[in-house]
Amino acid sequence: MKLLFIGDVVGSPGRKMVEQYLPKLKAKHKPSAIIVNGENAAGGKGITGKIYRSFLDQGAHVITLGNHAWDNRDIFEFIDEAKSLVRPANFPEGTPGKGLVYVQTEHGEVAIINLQGRTFLPAIDCPFKKADELIAEALQRTPMIFVDFHAEATSEKQAMGWYLDGRVSAVVGTHTHVQTADARILPRGTAYMTDVGMTGLYDGILGVDREAVLRKFLTSLPVRFEVPEGRSQLNAVLIHIEPKTGKAKAIERVMINDDHPYFE
Ligand SMILES: [Fe+2]
Ligand SMILES: [Fe+2]
Repeated sequence: MKLLFIGDVVGSPGRKMVEQYLPKLKAKHKPSAIIVNGENAAGGKGITGKIYRSFLDQGAHVITLGNHAWDNRDIFEFIDEAKSLVRPANFPEGTPGKGLVYVQTEHGEVAIINLQGRTFLPAIDCPFKKADELIAEALQRTPMIFVDFHAEATSEKQAMGWYLDGRVSAVVGTHTHVQTADARILPRGTAYMTDVGMTGLYDGILGVDREAVLRKFLTSLPVRFEVPEGRSQLNAVLIHIEPKTGKAKAIERVMINDDHPYFE
């Protein structure tokens, strides 16, 4: 079973890259499950119902989120009905939405879990304890479990990878918007990668206008982050999972930009 996970889609440059390259990635790899992190899909901040539905129309099965989940108020209009949307499961009790969903594939069900780290991010419930809880729940239905761990610190992400090794099919990080080169299969069969990276503006800073970010570093003035058009990239990862055991067999990075043309 092949699962394709696309890293944080940022604004319209990111959405255009998904429109352009998702059909090609589907044709090349024939993934049974397609997951997209959409926390920055609406102008860099949150997601709208229209964008959520357009990802599903293009073949995505589940959309994951992160610390920007609530940045666009439109989310409160559709999150209750959005069966294929997950937000970090360790947000406080009573937060709208859910942190675990299931995708039906021709190889069986895959559980998709979204968790958020606590290092350099708001204080929320323990992602490790929440992972224990949700894995126990998911294992009642399927051994194939994918975790999008939305976190800043590489140490916290590696810790989650080792904590869940042998208990889930994959732990892949999001949030930093920079793809790491450490994709591997941990000894007990969990695919791991610290960060899948970002899909959006290639010549920006983390997918937003670099001039604004520079102004922020050079002055003490407040700035508005916009997402201009420009050269773009798509970052993703492909994971091969053995359906019966849920163990990962392979993990491959996908980086598409002008310096790394993927389709030649
Ligand atoms: Fe992000
Ligand atoms: Fe984030």
